[in-house]
Amino acid sequence: MTDISTDVLIIGTGPAGSATAALLSSYGIENMAINRYRWLANSPRAHITNQRTMEVLRDLGRDVEDEAYMHASHQDLMGENIFCTSLAGEEIGRMKSWGNHPLSKAEHQLSSPTLMNDLPQTFMEPLLFKTACSRGTQARMSTQYVSHEQDADGVTTTCLDRLTGMEVTIRSKYLVGADGSNSLVAEHADLPFEGKMGVGGSMNILFRADLSQYVAHRPSVLYWVMQPGADVGGIGMGLVRMVRPWNEWLIVWGYDINQPAPEVDAELATSVARQLIGDPDLDIELLSANTWTVNNMYATHMQKDRVFIMGDAAHRHPPSNGLGSNTSIQDGFNLAWKLAAVLKGQANESLLKSYSEERAPVAKQIVTRANQSIGETGPIFEALGMGAGVDPEVMAENLSALCHGTPEAETQRKAIQDTIAFKKYEFDAHGVEMNQRYKSSAIEADGQPEPAFEKDAELHYQPTTWPGARLPHCCVFDKVNGAKHSTLDLCGKGKFTILTGIGGEAWKSAAEVIAADLGLDLAVHIIGPRQAYIDHTGDWARANEISDSGCVLVRPDHHIAWRAATLSTDPTADLQRVFKQILGK
Ligand code: FDA
Repeated sequence: MTDISTDVLIIGTGPAGSATAALLSSYGIENMAINRYRWLANSPRAHITNQRTMEVLRDLGRDVEDEAYMHASHQDLMGENIFCTSLAGEEIGRMKSWGNHPLSKAEHQLSSPTLMNDLPQTFMEPLLFKTACSRGTQARMSTQYVSHEQDADGVTTTCLDRLTGMEVTIRSKYLVGADGSNSLVAEHADLPFEGKMGVGGSMNILFRADLSQYVAHRPSVLYWVMQPGADVGGIGMGLVRMVRPWNEWLIVWGYDINQPAPEVDAELATSVARQLIGDPDLDIELLSANTWTVNNMYATHMQKDRVFIMGDAAHRHPPSNGLGSNTSIQDGFNLAWKLAAVLKGQANESLLKSYSEERAPVAKQIVTRANQSIGETGPIFEALGMGAGVDPEVMAENLSALCHGTPEAETQRKAIQDTIAFKKYEFDAHGVEMNQRYKSSAIEADGQPEPAFEKDAELHYQPTTWPGARLPHCCVFDKVNGAKHSTLDLCGKGKFTILTGIGGEAWKSAAEVIAADLGLDLAVHIIGPRQAYIDHTGDWARANEISDSGCVLVRPDHHIAWRAATLSTDPTADLQRVFKQILGK
């Protein structure tokens, strides 16, 4: 018997599920999110929060964005990744990370109105979940997904109410599996995966201790420690991660995946902490400890008819590059507006297939990148003569040898500097975070060739209005009060938006016809002198790659659906053709 019904049922209230719920509720779509536990993340796993994710939060509202900054450690504090023999020991080298190199900082500032920051998952999840529930999401905690069956009209999901032990069935039009890396929804939907789970073993040790004396003079979120065992399992090296400056920490330390997972009790946790910090008398307040596995697996397809998977359910990888929660939230930004458009009758169900077309390549890209980053730590060990494992005596000798005035020592010093600098592919890979360009049935490029990347596409974001790319951020100014707005702020919020200029007024009347035909909320902004928004700096004119009378059609997720170089002879017919292609109507 069906007890409950909703339009979209979301399994999981992690970053993926809570973000999707918050977006759907903001778009006025009835949805329900369930979680098998009574509350949200109990440990601060994800923390690096990139600009693209902050744009999603900003789209949810400036209050949501501001609250994230309020809880986060500021980008400046994310500082430099430190490589050392222990926090109290010798520093081997460091690299400016997370947009803190002045050149990288400039690229960040030019790319987005938002700031990268360090927001532990224990703050991000409640923020997204609260936003969802306050806007209409029905949340059911202590409710465990068991199975689902779909038919032509919807999905019937069977759950276990863990408080009563009773079975609950929930009928929905669509089901979203945001149930993490052991996703049962993905398994039951029989979705295809490539790669391997459990390629390495790791333990997390969360504790409180004031470590200011070791770190406050060299702020960072990540302190990498090279010690015996640091090259076994884990994420490339021993890691002491700042959770709250400078008195809450998370250690990530590897174990051999071919051996049984160790039991991380207080004794083991304290000894690992003392060893990595380099203080044999350190007292820690242990908050929690657990083991987890490094995975290297991604879904090659993320939809089975009315069932979708997202987040770790679809991409399973180590935390290197800090992409997991970020990509999970961005999956939600891609799917939520599409579900809303279909449920509101504005789009045909064919729109939904673009979700997997667009996000499955991203899943593959980030899983590959994160695992590659672990491998790229190896050369630092080799540069220090540690190719065959870390031997403390050999390491001490090699570190001493670095001080010699010999050509060999100079070569080795350079090798260490180069291998650490190369870690920018993990710690300053702005292109990986921002360069997502979609190719799908929900994009109409009209055969225009994709612009080649002029710099390394993993390191540098390259703005373009080529259809499929994210709308470039430029500041434009309010005619009435001079206030500065990002072009991204003129778009989104669940709506399609047309940006045009002087001479493009006919796009506005064409848009009114389309909006009335499809029942769409379609915004049009004319940017130019004495218009509502003025491009005083000329930045938008330089970035938009169209003439003033042309237009850029932006999807609710800020990605460009289509563009016209100039005003066409029949703007209404053009928009009708494009919307038919995208929305199937
Ligand atoms: P997540 O696993 O978070 O949530 C799954 C949800 O589904 C939970 O609510 C769970 O209770 C629920 N669930 C599961 N099975 C269920 C069932 N049968 N019934 C009901 N509910 C069920 N990422 C990042 O972007 N930046 C970073 O810096 C880091 N750093 C980092 C460090 C460390 C040490 C780790 C281990 C991980 C990271 N990550 C990260 C990765 C990040 O934590 C991860 O990618 C996200 O939590 C994934 O979010 P999801 O919502 O997809 O799954």
